[in-house]
This record gives sequence, structure tokens and C-alpha cells, in this order.
Amino acid sequence: MNMQELQVKDVESNTCTVGDIDSDTRTPLTTATDGSKYFTTRLARVEDDIPLIATILNQAYKVGEQGILDDSPKFPLVRAKESEVRDMIQAQQMIILLESQTSSTNNDHSCTKLKTILGCVRAFVVDHACTDDRRQNSDYTGEWGCLAIELSHQGRGLGRMLVNAAEQHLHEQSCRFLRIDLLAPSSGDHAHKERLRTWYTKRLGYNLSVPGDYAASTKKLSARSLLAGRFLLANDTDYTCYRKRISIDCEVKNGPIHDRHSA
Ligand SMILES: CC(C)(COP(=O)(O)OP(=O)(O)OC[C@H]1O[C@@H](n2cnc3c(N)ncnc32)[C@H](O)[C@@H]1OP(=O)(O)O)[C@@H](O)C(=O)NCCC(=O)NCCS
Repeated sequence: MNMQELQVKDVESNTCTVGDIDSDTRTPLTTATDGSKYFTTRLARVEDDIPLIATILNQAYKVGEQGILDDSPKFPLVRAKESEVRDMIQAQQMIILLESQTSSTNNDHSCTKLKTILGCVRAFVVDHACTDDRRQNSDYTGEWGCLAIELSHQGRGLGRMLVNAAEQHLHEQSCRFLRIDLLAPSSGDHAHKERLRTWYTKRLGYNLSVPGDYAASTKKLSARSLLAGRFLLANDTDYTCYRKRISIDCEVKNGPIHDRHSA
């Protein structure tokens, strides 16, 4: 699906009373505004959201994993098939970011609300079979991944908004710690991955899972081996685990949406 098709299929039109801009978003996790636009995160729904999530996720990963995961006619990179997205949604792990835009008021004092999915993140409890007793333990851990923002909307603070929603979702499930993984080439620089590493460590507060010890926090994976039994590694790759103790400060986290492209 190309971007034009994406945007056409993407848009859900309906009417709402003026001022009641967010009347039909069930379970919103976070919100932010940018002029006439209104951004909301919520858990994805099986009935509405699967194809667009799969499209955004797979397009974003084709760019983000360039040079790390093979993406060739023989091994096309598909981060998640629609059936896998469905499973994540059914497990209440998939959070999406929606942009709502209200068009001008119609003659009958109603307005048109356009909604577009711009991104997604998967947030899940690592040991979901835990008993309530274990939940009380201080190491109960959640993880997020499959973070993706539609290509033309990256760099505006939307990824940050999804991470905030993922962390909040895991916090609400009693997680005390959060973990994330980073795949990066073992040698040479990968601008996108190094930017992510800086973001995770300097801005989001994650530390190496074995503090101060990169080697102990990292699995070395060989070129041409399969990751998770299906992703072919293009080069020697470091798989590094980061971790942090959870802390939620929604006021700080839901800051204004910004546009680095126009800065
Ligand atoms: C990772 C991804 C979701 C980020 O989305 P985004 O909407 O561009 O993210 P944001 O605009 O919120 O920026 C996130 C951080 O990246 C950094 N950043 C963003 N744009 C930047 C730029 N042009 N220059 C330098 N740093 C930049 C900032 O540190 C920013 O965080 P901060 O505002 O808290 O400081 C997006 O790049 C993507 O979909 N990538 C492909 C898939 C992927 O790599 N996923 C991550 C693996 S789980």
C-alpha cells in the first residue's frame, strides 16, 4: 500500500457536536494538542485498526532496520504480519496514536472529525503468568517495542507520546521495571540506532541492564543468522538490553507536540 492509499483508507469521517472533539475515543491513555489537531493514544481495536498498524509498523521498520535486518526479495522484512498484530491487540498490548482534526462547522452546527492512525507501540508484561504475589515483587517487569511512527510524521514528538503511553500502560499493570532492546551493528555507525540509544539513555532514563557493563548487557549475533527464528541479520549485530525503574510524571511527559522539520 502506498502513502496515498494509506491516507485515504486511514481517515474515518464522522460527525460530532462542536467542542466534543474526543467523544468516541474509548480508553484514551494520553492526549496532546497542536492547534486544530488533537492527538490521542488508546488501545487498538481488532475491528478497526489491524491493517493500518501493520502498514505503519512494517514501513517504519524497513527504514529503521536498514543495514541491520535483511530486506530482499528472498527475505522481505515484515516486522509483524496482520495475524500477529491481531494477537497483540487481543492481548491488549497494542497502543495506537490517533490524530483527530476537526473541520469547519457545517450549516447544521455539526463538525467533521477526521481520525488518522499515525503510530503504534506494543507494551506487554514480560512474565504475564505471574501470580499476584509475584506482582508485589520489586522486579515485576514490562517491556515495550514495535514502536513506529508513520514516516512523514516522525520527528514531531509523537514517538515520545507513544512511549509515555506504553510506560503508563505498564505502570497500571503494576510493573516496577521496564525493559527495551536495541539492535545495532557491532561495528560502524548507524545514525538512526545511535539516535535511539541516546534517546533511551539520556532522555528516557534507561540504563544498561547490567549497569555500566555494555558487554554483559549485550548478546553478540552473527551476520546471516536468524533473529527470533525469522529475521535474517545483514551484519554482525549487538542486541543490547536496557532497563529502568518505572516512574510516571504525566505532566512533564505530555508536553506540547513539536515539529522538528520546521525548526
Ligand atoms: C523511533 C520512532 C518511533 C521515533 O518516532 P518520532 O515521532 O520521530 O520520535 P520523536 O519525535 O518523539 O523523537 C524521539 C526522540 O528522538 C530524538 N530526535 C527526534 N528527531 C530528531 C532529530 N531530527 N534530530 C535529533 N534527535 C531527534 C529526540 O531525542 C527525541 O526525543 P525527545 O524529544 O524526548 O528529546 C521513529 O523514528 C520510527 O518509527 N522509527 C522506525 C522504527 C524504529 O526504529 N523503532 C524503534 C525500535 S523499537
